[in-house]
Amino acid sequence: MSKGLFITLEGGEGAGKSTQLAYIRQRIEDAGIPLHVTREPGGTPLAEEIRALLLGHRDETMASDAELLLMFAARAQHLAQLIRPALARDEWVLCDRFTDATYAYQGGGRGIDFERIAVLEDWVQGELRPDLTLLLDLPVEVGMVRAGQRGDLDRFEREQRGFFEHVRTAYRERAEQEPGRFRVIDAAQDIAGVQRQIDAVLAPLLAQATGKSA
Ligand SMILES: Nc1ncnc2c1ncn2[C@@H]1O[C@H](COP(=O)(O)OP(=O)(O)O)[C@@H](O)[C@H]1O
Ligand SMILES: [Mg+2]
Repeated sequence: MSKGLFITLEGGEGAGKSTQLAYIRQRIEDAGIPLHVTREPGGTPLAEEIRALLLGHRDETMASDAELLLMFAARAQHLAQLIRPALARDEWVLCDRFTDATYAYQGGGRGIDFERIAVLEDWVQGELRPDLTLLLDLPVEVGMVRAGQRGDLDRFEREQRGFFEHVRTAYRERAEQEPGRFRVIDAAQDIAGVQRQIDAVLAPLLAQATGKSA
């Protein structure tokens, strides 16, 4: 079965995911490959409604398990409506955050057992995993300064420094455990430097997909 490539972009707040997403989109589209650019939580109208529930502020505290289940509810919808159909049509999918973010934020950040997350991952995704995950890694304080310039902070962005240290550690551990899928990018470099690192990963994939030599 021919199948499109599923690429995810991960990293903490202000790592440069949205910035680099636009760059990666351009590189893939320039290669003439049909591409869907999407994000999590969200990516479909219903999943975006769940995103609003997850990121919005309210007086009631959201229980960690409720947060985890909403993440996977949104993901189930996103997979059914967008990701799986696109990959089946041999199109590529580029997603701003995916299940590694759940391990990092709900697992590392909130302290939910990774094993419990793995149960939901298997349930909702079956065998499906990203083909490539670019982890934009940088010191927490650098990311917080960058993200702080964006103005209104969502429910996650309002967390404390310690939370984001746990998020970063969880991301890096996952990258170590799955070196075949992850590429760790030094996101503390300037935008051009980060793009060069991404190009080094992307160029051979694009060459392979378009049948040209790298
Ligand atoms: N490599 C970089 N060096 C300096 N500033 C950056 C870099 N990458 C992104 N930024 C800036 O940092 C802020 C956060 O970037 P963004 O792409 O929104 O991060 P994310 O989506 O990972 O939270 C933006 O103002 C962006 O212009
Ligand atoms: Mg972003």
